[in-house]
Amino acid sequence: MPAARVLVVYFSRSGTTARLASMLAGMLHADLEAIRESGADPDAERNGARKGARGYLRSLIEAVRQRPAAIEPPVHDPAAYDVVIVGSPVWARSVSSPVRAWLVAHRASLKHVAFFCSLGGSGAANALDQMRVLAGKPPVAQCEVTASDLHAGKDQRLIAEFAQRIGQRLTVLDTVEWTL
Ligand SMILES: Cc1cc2nc3c(=O)[nH]c(=O)nc-3n(C[C@H](O)[C@H](O)[C@H](O)COP(=O)(O)O)c2cc1C
Repeated sequence: MPAARVLVVYFSRSGTTARLASMLAGMLHADLEAIRESGADPDAERNGARKGARGYLRSLIEAVRQRPAAIEPPVHDPAAYDVVIVGSPVWARSVSSPVRAWLVAHRASLKHVAFFCSLGGSGAANALDQMRVLAGKPPVAQCEVTASDLHAGKDQRLIAEFAQRIGQRLTVLDTVEWTL
Protein backbone atom coordinates (compact mmCIF):
# COMPACT_ATOMS: atom_id res chain seq x y z
CA MET A 1 0.00 0.00 0.00
CA PRO A 2 1.41 3.45 -0.79
CA ALA A 3 2.32 5.86 2.03
CA ALA A 4 -0.17 8.67 2.74
CA ARG A 5 0.46 11.84 0.78
CA VAL A 6 0.55 14.83 3.13
CA LEU A 7 0.62 18.55 2.38
CA VAL A 8 1.30 21.23 4.99
CA VAL A 9 -0.02 24.61 3.87
CA TYR A 10 0.25 27.76 5.96
CA PHE A 11 0.35 31.52 6.11
CA SER A 12 2.76 33.38 8.35
CA ARG A 13 3.16 37.13 8.80
CA SER A 14 6.11 37.09 11.15
CA GLY A 15 7.61 33.61 10.91
CA THR A 16 6.19 31.62 13.83
CA THR A 17 3.58 29.60 11.90
CA ALA A 18 6.15 29.08 9.13
CA ARG A 19 8.61 27.57 11.60
CA LEU A 20 5.99 25.22 13.05
CA ALA A 21 4.85 24.25 9.54
CA SER A 22 8.32 23.30 8.41
CA MET A 23 8.93 21.35 11.64
CA LEU A 24 5.70 19.42 11.00
CA ALA A 25 6.46 18.84 7.32
CA GLY A 26 9.89 17.48 8.28
CA MET A 27 8.39 15.06 10.81
CA LEU A 28 5.75 13.81 8.36
CA HIS A 29 7.88 13.83 5.18
CA ALA A 30 5.20 16.14 3.79
CA ASP A 31 5.18 18.70 1.01
CA LEU A 32 5.19 22.27 2.31
CA GLU A 33 3.54 25.32 0.83
CA ALA A 34 3.29 28.93 1.98
CA ILE A 35 0.09 30.65 0.90
CA ARG A 36 1.15 33.52 -1.32
CA GLU A 37 -0.84 36.72 -1.44
CA SER A 38 -1.51 38.38 -4.77
CA GLY A 39 0.87 41.26 -5.32
CA ALA A 40 3.23 40.23 -2.48
CA ASP A 41 6.97 40.33 -3.13
CA PRO A 42 8.07 36.69 -3.47
CA ASP A 43 11.62 37.59 -2.44
CA ALA A 44 10.64 39.40 0.73
CA GLU A 45 11.39 37.43 3.87
CA ARG A 46 8.19 38.73 5.33
CA ASN A 47 5.09 39.77 3.51
CA GLY A 48 5.74 43.48 2.86
CA ALA A 49 2.10 44.55 2.68
CA ARG A 50 1.54 43.18 6.19
CA LYS A 51 4.64 44.66 7.79
CA GLY A 52 4.65 47.29 10.51
CA ALA A 53 1.73 49.09 12.12
CA ARG A 54 -0.11 49.59 8.85
CA GLY A 55 0.15 45.90 7.97
CA TYR A 56 -0.93 44.92 11.47
CA LEU A 57 -4.01 47.13 11.23
CA ARG A 58 -4.89 45.83 7.78
CA SER A 59 -4.62 42.24 9.03
CA LEU A 60 -6.69 43.04 12.10
CA ILE A 61 -9.47 44.68 10.09
CA GLU A 62 -9.64 41.81 7.60
CA ALA A 63 -9.87 39.30 10.45
CA VAL A 64 -12.56 41.23 12.33
CA ARG A 65 -14.60 41.62 9.14
CA GLN A 66 -13.97 37.96 8.25
CA ARG A 67 -12.77 39.06 4.83
CA PRO A 68 -10.62 36.70 2.72
CA ALA A 69 -7.34 38.04 1.31
CA ALA A 70 -6.50 37.88 -2.41
CA ILE A 71 -4.20 34.89 -2.89
CA GLU A 72 -2.28 33.23 -5.72
CA PRO A 73 -3.20 29.79 -7.13
CA PRO A 74 -1.47 26.98 -5.21
CA VAL A 75 1.78 25.34 -6.32
CA HIS A 76 0.64 21.94 -4.96
CA ASP A 77 -2.81 20.68 -5.94
CA PRO A 78 -4.55 19.89 -2.62
CA ALA A 79 -6.73 17.28 -4.35
CA ALA A 80 -3.63 15.10 -4.83
CA TYR A 81 -3.14 14.60 -1.05
CA ASP A 82 -4.66 12.18 1.48
CA VAL A 83 -4.46 14.85 4.17
CA VAL A 84 -3.88 18.59 4.04
CA ILE A 85 -2.68 20.21 7.27
CA VAL A 86 -3.53 23.91 7.37
CA GLY A 87 -1.73 26.37 9.67
CA SER A 88 -2.66 29.95 10.51
CA PRO A 89 -1.74 32.64 12.99
CA VAL A 90 -4.68 33.78 15.14
CA TRP A 91 -5.75 37.30 14.26
CA ALA A 92 -8.40 38.98 16.43
CA ARG A 93 -9.41 35.56 17.79
CA SER A 94 -9.99 34.50 14.17
CA VAL A 95 -8.31 32.64 11.33
CA SER A 96 -5.98 34.87 9.25
CA SER A 97 -7.46 36.29 6.03
CA PRO A 98 -5.04 34.46 3.64
CA VAL A 99 -5.88 31.08 5.25
CA ARG A 100 -9.59 31.99 5.13
CA ALA A 101 -9.20 32.60 1.37
CA TRP A 102 -7.28 29.34 0.85
CA LEU A 103 -9.93 27.26 2.68
CA VAL A 104 -12.77 28.88 0.73
CA ALA A 105 -10.97 28.27 -2.57
CA HIS A 106 -10.00 24.64 -1.93
CA ARG A 107 -12.59 23.19 0.43
CA ALA A 108 -14.09 21.01 -2.29
CA SER A 109 -10.72 19.31 -2.98
CA LEU A 110 -9.92 18.34 0.60
CA LYS A 111 -10.11 14.67 1.56
CA HIS A 112 -8.90 14.83 5.18
CA VAL A 113 -7.82 17.97 7.03
CA ALA A 114 -5.94 18.84 10.20
CA PHE A 115 -5.49 22.35 11.60
CA PHE A 116 -2.93 24.15 13.70
CA CYS A 117 -2.54 27.72 14.80
CA SER A 118 0.04 29.89 16.49
CA LEU A 119 -1.03 32.69 18.76
CA GLY A 120 -0.09 35.06 21.54
CA GLY A 121 -2.39 33.45 24.07
CA SER A 122 -6.14 33.62 23.41
CA GLY A 123 -8.62 32.96 20.65
CA ALA A 124 -7.40 29.60 19.32
CA ALA A 125 -10.71 27.77 19.87
CA ASN A 126 -12.63 30.32 17.84
CA ALA A 127 -10.04 30.41 15.04
CA LEU A 128 -9.97 26.59 14.83
CA ASP A 129 -13.80 26.51 14.76
CA GLN A 130 -13.76 28.97 11.86
CA MET A 131 -11.28 26.75 10.00
CA ARG A 132 -13.55 23.73 10.47
CA VAL A 133 -16.59 25.62 9.17
CA LEU A 134 -14.63 27.03 6.20
CA ALA A 135 -13.24 23.60 5.29
CA GLY A 136 -16.70 22.07 5.62
CA LYS A 137 -15.39 19.07 7.51
CA PRO A 138 -14.05 18.21 10.95
CA PRO A 139 -10.27 17.94 11.32
CA VAL A 140 -8.66 14.58 12.08
CA ALA A 141 -6.57 16.49 14.65
CA GLN A 142 -5.81 20.05 15.69
CA CYS A 143 -3.12 21.85 17.63
CA GLU A 144 -2.44 25.30 19.06
CA VAL A 145 0.93 26.72 20.01
CA THR A 146 1.00 29.85 22.18
CA ALA A 147 3.79 32.33 22.77
CA SER A 148 4.32 30.90 26.24
CA ASP A 149 4.64 27.38 24.75
CA LEU A 150 7.36 28.80 22.49
CA HIS A 151 9.14 30.52 25.37
CA ALA A 152 8.99 27.32 27.41
CA GLY A 153 10.46 25.35 24.49
CA LYS A 154 7.33 23.16 24.24
CA ASP A 155 6.67 23.74 20.53
CA GLN A 156 8.59 20.73 19.22
CA ARG A 157 6.79 18.34 21.58
CA LEU A 158 3.36 19.82 20.76
CA ILE A 159 4.00 19.50 17.02
CA ALA A 160 5.34 15.94 17.40
CA GLU A 161 2.22 14.92 19.36
CA PHE A 162 0.04 16.57 16.72
CA ALA A 163 1.83 14.63 13.95
CA GLN A 164 1.32 11.43 15.92
CA ARG A 165 -2.43 12.08 16.36
CA ILE A 166 -2.83 12.75 12.63
CA GLY A 167 -1.09 9.47 11.80
CA GLN A 168 -3.20 7.48 14.25
CA ARG A 169 -6.50 8.94 13.02
CA LEU A 170 -5.65 8.38 9.35
CA THR A 171 -4.65 4.81 9.97
CA VAL A 172 -8.07 4.22 11.53
CA LEU A 173 -9.98 6.13 8.84
CA ASP A 174 -8.29 4.86 5.73
CA THR A 175 -5.98 2.03 6.66
CA VAL A 176 -3.33 3.90 4.69
CA GLU A 177 0.22 2.95 5.45
CA TRP A 178 1.63 5.66 7.69
CA THR A 179 5.31 6.29 8.03
CA LEU A 180 6.52 8.67 10.73
C1 LIG B 1 -3.43 41.46 13.37
C2 LIG B 1 -3.05 40.50 14.48
C3 LIG B 1 -4.00 40.11 15.40
C4 LIG B 1 -3.65 39.20 16.41
N1 LIG B 1 -4.63 38.77 17.26
C5 LIG B 1 -4.33 37.83 18.20
C6 LIG B 1 -5.36 37.29 19.06
O1 LIG B 1 -6.54 37.59 18.95
N2 LIG B 1 -4.99 36.39 20.00
C7 LIG B 1 -3.68 35.99 20.17
O2 LIG B 1 -3.43 35.18 21.05
N3 LIG B 1 -2.69 36.46 19.34
C8 LIG B 1 -2.99 37.36 18.36
N4 LIG B 1 -2.00 37.84 17.53
C9 LIG B 1 -0.63 37.31 17.69
C10 LIG B 1 -0.32 36.21 16.66
O3 LIG B 1 -1.37 35.26 16.57
C11 LIG B 1 0.95 35.45 17.03
O4 LIG B 1 2.01 36.35 17.23
C12 LIG B 1 1.31 34.43 15.98
O5 LIG B 1 2.21 33.47 16.53
C13 LIG B 1 1.96 35.08 14.77
O6 LIG B 1 2.22 34.09 13.80
P1 LIG B 1 3.14 34.38 12.53
O7 LIG B 1 4.51 34.77 13.07
O8 LIG B 1 3.17 33.10 11.79
O9 LIG B 1 2.51 35.50 11.75
C14 LIG B 1 -2.31 38.72 16.52
C15 LIG B 1 -1.36 39.15 15.60
C16 LIG B 1 -1.72 40.01 14.57
C17 LIG B 1 -0.68 40.43 13.56
